Amino acid sequence: MKIKIYKNLVYIASSITKSLEDNKICVIGLPTGNTPIFLYKNIVSSKTFLKSKTFFMLDCLYPQKPEDTYSYYSFIRKNLLDHIAFKKNNFHILNSDAKDPDTECRNYEMAIKSSGGIDLAILGIGQNGHIAFNEPGTPEDSVTHMVKLSDQTRIANGGLDNIPEYGLTMGIKTIMSARKIFLLAKGKNKAKAVYDAVKGPISSDCPASFLQKHPDCTFFLDADAASLL
Ligand code: GLP
Repeated sequence: MKIKIYKNLVYIASSITKSLEDNKICVIGLPTGNTPIFLYKNIVSSKTFLKSKTFFMLDCLYPQKPEDTYSYYSFIRKNLLDHIAFKKNNFHILNSDAKDPDTECRNYEMAIKSSGGIDLAILGIGQNGHIAFNEPGTPEDSVTHMVKLSDQTRIANGGLDNIPEYGLTMGIKTIMSARKIFLLAKGKNKAKAVYDAVKGPISSDCPASFLQKHPDCTFFLDADAASLL
């Protein structure tokens, strides 16, 4: 994996945005969270042409109405979709209101495959080393599946009162199948997770550590997130 450290991640926003325009990047995995907001702002303000791209959100909270204030659909609408031109059929998010979550996950995995697979997955990282909603303990061969969220993750996402107990998420194998991966991390509270992901043993104790095995993965870190490296 490549490690790139910046004083502030905003400095690289436009170069990441540019890389989305690359003709070889057709299918993009998109994260939620506070970390990527600077990137979405840059994409929107630079009027990047994304009409020919296909998007797959990495995960969603479950069960939850898509229009809930805390839903990942509301997040991506507010931060990206409401401001860009895109083809509705080319935007995918797991249905947080699905009656049968297992079928929903199977269909999502199939939709990713039939789109040709993910060219670029953009990830954040949780304080416990989770990527998407793959919490510690998630096996390396996991595909899109339902997970029980840890209290820490629910609190970080908006609090135990607002956030449901489960999530639907691309698995570790789904993410590792992406041809290129960018992981973004900022802030001191991510330093330990970043250290474990980069320097720690490859283990499901820190799901992000599996990225050490990926052939084309870059970590974009601010100085605080990189402070233990
Ligand atoms: C959630 C998302 C993850 C994201 C994480 C970090 O748990 N499911 O995909 O990486 O939050 O969020 P933040 O960037 O707000 O720290």
